[in-house]
Amino acid sequence: MRSILSIFSVSAALLSATSGAPDWQFNLKAQSSGIVALESIIVNPNLALWFDRASNDPLQINNHSAWGALFNLQTAEVTPLNVITNSFCASGAFLSNGTMASIGGDQTGFTGNPTIKPGTQAIRLFDPCASLTGEGCTLFEDPNLILLEKRWYPSAARIFDGSLIIVGGMHEEAVFYNIDPANSFEFFPRKEESVRPSAFLERSLPANLFPRILALPDGTVFMVANNQSIIYDVETNTETILPDIPNGVRVSNPTDGSAVLLPLSPPDFIPEVLVCGGSSIDDRIPVQNLSSQIPATSQCSRITLTPEGIAKGWEVNHMLTNRTLHELLHLPNGQILVVNGAGTGFAGYGSVADPVGNSNADNAVLVPELYTPSAPLGQRFSNEGMPSSGIARVYHSSITLTPQGNFLVAGSNPNNGSNFTGPDFKFPSEFRVQTLDPPFMFVERPTIISAPQKLAFNSSVTIPISVPDTLSNDNATIQVSLMDLGFSTHGFHTGARLVFMDATISDDGESLTFTTPPSGRVFPPGPATVFLTINDVTSEGVSVMMGSGNAPPTLE
Ligand SMILES: *[C@@H]1O[C@H](CO)[C@@H](O)[C@H](O)[C@H]1NC(C)=O
Ligand SMILES: *[C@@H]1O[C@H](CO)[C@@H](O)[C@H](O)[C@H]1NC(C)=O
Ligand SMILES: *[C@@H]1O[C@H](CO)[C@@H](O)[C@H](O)[C@H]1NC(C)=O
Ligand SMILES: *[C@@H]1O[C@H](CO)[C@@H](O)[C@H](O)[C@H]1NC(C)=O
Ligand SMILES: *[C@@H]1O[C@H](CO)[C@@H](O)[C@H](O)[C@H]1NC(C)=O
Ligand SMILES: *[C@@H]1O[C@H](CO)[C@@H](O)[C@H](O)[C@H]1NC(C)=O
Ligand SMILES: *[C@@H]1O[C@H](CO)[C@@H](O)[C@H](O)[C@H]1NC(C)=O
Ligand SMILES: *[C@@H]1O[C@H](CO)[C@@H](O)[C@H](O)[C@H]1NC(C)=O
Ligand SMILES: *[C@@H]1O[C@H](CO)[C@@H](O)[C@H](O)[C@H]1NC(C)=O
Repeated sequence: MRSILSIFSVSAALLSATSGAPDWQFNLKAQSSGIVALESIIVNPNLALWFDRASNDPLQINNHSAWGALFNLQTAEVTPLNVITNSFCASGAFLSNGTMASIGGDQTGFTGNPTIKPGTQAIRLFDPCASLTGEGCTLFEDPNLILLEKRWYPSAARIFDGSLIIVGGMHEEAVFYNIDPANSFEFFPRKEESVRPSAFLERSLPANLFPRILALPDGTVFMVANNQSIIYDVETNTETILPDIPNGVRVSNPTDGSAVLLPLSPPDFIPEVLVCGGSSIDDRIPVQNLSSQIPATSQCSRITLTPEGIAKGWEVNHMLTNRTLHELLHLPNGQILVVNGAGTGFAGYGSVADPVGNSNADNAVLVPELYTPSAPLGQRFSNEGMPSSGIARVYHSSITLTPQGNFLVAGSNPNNGSNFTGPDFKFPSEFRVQTLDPPFMFVERPTIISAPQKLAFNSSVTIPISVPDTLSNDNATIQVSLMDLGFSTHGFHTGARLVFMDATISDDGESLTFTTPPSGRVFPPGPATVFLTINDVTSEGVSVMMGSGNAPPTLE
């Protein structure tokens, strides 16, 4: 590879010569998110979209508190969005044509905000918007475009044909457990005019809210709720029961663990699922008998979803800390970040015997961990060089990987609306926004100079890049990842996906050639971000449309 002269290479070399590799850092990005950022999704290279409940948040629109906003990743400016229905505890994902759909929400909401309309059957659409400042970006709500069933606390994820599967939730407001369940599946756009009842959701009551759902590379969908798991075949409407999560560990709301599909690699794209944290309480104990001080679990369970892997069952491992209300997220190099959450207690507020302030959880965990999937069992977790965030991110917090390659961390609000009162108030509504910056943010990085707007499946693509001297090495490890950055809500990142692509860098170091996934089963057609990582130093991502960009359903 030809070496490339760069003005930054000297300082990068100096940095590594004098102080070793830089550590991870939390940095304050903004004093106020304007609304509590309890749901988060990246909608273009410079904008994150946040949702809260219709509440008494400080950010105003049309003379009332806003509950949706765009956050400018560059300038940290917050722009309110005019949301009509209550997006409290909704889910969301992109469709194959690049429109983001926010799904479901709360029936009533906060009485302090009279403009609110029920969100339980809502489908809120955010069309592709290229404006880097959010100008002209709007959320569209058609009162005739609704879900078949009322759903608060549902999950939604894009499947192989670019449409969304929408799973579970409850009909009306409930304090803690799912006592008014919507135990069914439906699709957006609709595949039929009635919902599909689910035996799995029945079995996983009462702790089955926000089921953790992951689209598998054969087009089926893995689901875990409570301590039950299945593979759902959308095309035949059949559920195949998988082994329970071991040791009575429950991983969906209100006993929130998190789940992630480990990176998929060519040629076989063998799916492996990791499920971490949550609680091992008996789910028949009434909430008023539970305590904010009951330890969450440190258990992580991993399974390979092949016939042999399923026969082998879940392999158990442990995080360095007990956690609930945390998230698991992909790094472009294939490691998994474990971040946020609490060491004890549960989701929700004001319902356990001894809430802390209003929080059902306590002992915020401030230090993230990294999980290396390929490391030997027992050596997969590390928090070496990881800083403390200094800010509790418990219930109703969110985090997302950004196209810049760092993480945007916001939210936390175990309160009924915005609340900052009380001298001993440990968990106020949290408006401070941080970034969590990986070490590569502080060294010279590779650059993807440009990429086509659309990528066809199963094709070879060559794009211009530049590689700093520091990384120009014949033996360098090159990784090209195609990622869905996901939608963060309630300790789970629906739709998040990392597919590695076979890749080579030209001898002159100026172009990168990679092979896209074989079909929409491996990467559901829709928006994606491509990152280039050389020796664990990741470029900024480029946004592409994987597939045709057609409206769903589409197989290309
Ligand atoms: C907001 O309130 C002010 C003062 O009451 C009023 O003049 C203005 O028209 C209102 N704006 C909207 C969009 O309702
Ligand atoms: C939350 O506050 C609203 C008033 O805005 C009230 O109607 C509701 O009962 C409260 N809920 C809880 C769980 O405290
Ligand atoms: C899963 O939870 C159910 C209901 O609490 C319980 O009967 C079952 O034993 C649990 N499974 C495991 C493997 O712990
Ligand atoms: C819940 O607590 C109440 C009051 O302390 C007690 O009477 C009851 O037996 C407890 N129930 C369970 C299932 O622990
Ligand atoms: C994690 O929870 C277990 C009980 O399930 C407890 O024994 C242990 O001390 C906890 N670990 C930490 C680091 O708090
Ligand atoms: C804020 O939380 C405190 C502590 O639980 C509670 O006493 C107070 O009523 C809450 N205020 C509002 C406006 O909900
Ligand atoms: C590449 O690896 C080989 C074998 O490990 C080693 O001999 C060689 O020095 C390495 N080259 C560079 C540029 O690091
Ligand atoms: C991908 O393309 C190769 C030829 O380049 C072909 O052999 C293969 O069948 C294609 N795979 C799919 C899933 O279309
Ligand atoms: C994308 O498809 C959905 C579902 O058919 C549709 O509602 C939406 O308007 C489409 N978006 C664009 C930009 O055409």
